[in-house]
Amino acid sequence: MTSARLHLDGQIHEFPVIHGTEDEVGIEIGQLRSQTGAITLDSGFTSTGACTSSITYIDGANGILRYRGYPIEQLAEESDFAEVAYLLLYGELPNAEQSAAFRADLTYHSMIHEDMKKFFEGFPPNAHPMAILSAMVASLSTYYPGTEKESRDANFVRLIAKIRTLAAYAYKKSIGQPTIYPRNDLSYGENFLHMMFAVPAEEYQVNPVMVKALNMLLILHADHEQNCSTATVRMVGSSRANIFAAISSGICALWGPLHGGANQKVLEMLEVMEKDGGGYQKWIDKAKDKNDEFRLMGFGHRVYKNFDPRATILRKMTGEVLEELGMEDPLLEIAKNLERVALEDSYFVERNLYPNVDFYSGILYRAMGIPTNMFTVMFAIGRLPGWLAHWKELREDESARIYRPRQIYTGPNERKYEPLAGRG
Ligand code: SDX
Repeated sequence: MTSARLHLDGQIHEFPVIHGTEDEVGIEIGQLRSQTGAITLDSGFTSTGACTSSITYIDGANGILRYRGYPIEQLAEESDFAEVAYLLLYGELPNAEQSAAFRADLTYHSMIHEDMKKFFEGFPPNAHPMAILSAMVASLSTYYPGTEKESRDANFVRLIAKIRTLAAYAYKKSIGQPTIYPRNDLSYGENFLHMMFAVPAEEYQVNPVMVKALNMLLILHADHEQNCSTATVRMVGSSRANIFAAISSGICALWGPLHGGANQKVLEMLEVMEKDGGGYQKWIDKAKDKNDEFRLMGFGHRVYKNFDPRATILRKMTGEVLEELGMEDPLLEIAKNLERVALEDSYFVERNLYPNVDFYSGILYRAMGIPTNMFTVMFAIGRLPGWLAHWKELREDESARIYRPRQIYTGPNERKYEPLAGRG
């Protein structure tokens, strides 16, 4: 199949068809408007592709997720976040020399300019850390104004290295504790946990179980093709705004409760259910009631119409980590029972609504001592390499044009201006 035909106003128009490496089919309609005067309309972009990409492949019907061809299950089990970040950015797993150099860069660029610490003093104590993170990431551009081409790889490292420090500083500020500087003897995950939980008064030993869990969580969140926040990063990148502005925009898009903000909403939902003690059917019925704005947070997905492979990994991992830490969390049982009841209900089955990546992640973050309002920050730390990889792919595409969607106007037709005196 090399072309598609469109019958419009008695005329036939042909458009080229492209096939991806996994046999996905796309109709190239860039010339539709110039050929026919018509545009397509696709609210929410359910059937519209913005680009071709070689970074991540998702098969929603079969619950497949691969980063640069590697199945998420293998990367989550056998790799670590720094290596996956390199893979997403550069397309291949690093060799020993590349891996050592990349990890050293992430270590030696984890400090932020001392003056940036003053920015934190201006935020109120209860400021949401996503507001702080987006502001601080955009502010990094004032310290690294270098031209894009010469500093592209350096900025990738700066952002991946420093986002942990900014996140941990935001947390320390929210609890009124002194900030803890990054250390050069700790790995990526160890450094983050140390900055989050160490206190000057005593030695903090990073728990290796938590480091492995953190690496798996960050890997699972590292990329997900053209999701809302990644599409936002590409949108801002297409105007050639600086990389810090593009990432700050992605952080803001991720914050939404329908997207990355869902992990915080899931935990809050489970806590309400625990307090309510009213069983599950009541909440299932509320989620099905069109007159009730309640949704089962952590359920449903635009692409996965079967299980989200990340949720499957997280469900198993959460139980294992809690057991290894000798912890129990009643919310895990509530989540598992809620999933069981929902997946026996025709409303969810008919709409292919399954748990997504956000459904279990919060329980794991909570077990690691991360507060609920930091959950979406954790998502942003994980998703950053994906955002950067897509930004890089867009900026290296010489044919890429500024994103500027069209519309169909439905407002008033032309009318004459009436001065105020004559308006009655
Ligand atoms: C992420 O895109 C990505 O890849 C995102 C992400 C990533 O890694 O980047 O995977 C991360 O954002 C996961 C999603 C986190 N969000 C939530 O858990 C919030 C709850 N879920 C939804 O609001 C919803 O399912 C979305 C936003 C995830 C998907 O929205 P869609 O594709 O626009 O689907 P929809 O809202 O049109 O729903 C289709 C139907 C509707 O019912 P009908 O109009 O057909 O009768 O399913 C219903 C919806 O009302 N529905 C739900 C529901 N999700 C969808 N009903 C109850 N509870 C839900 N959670």
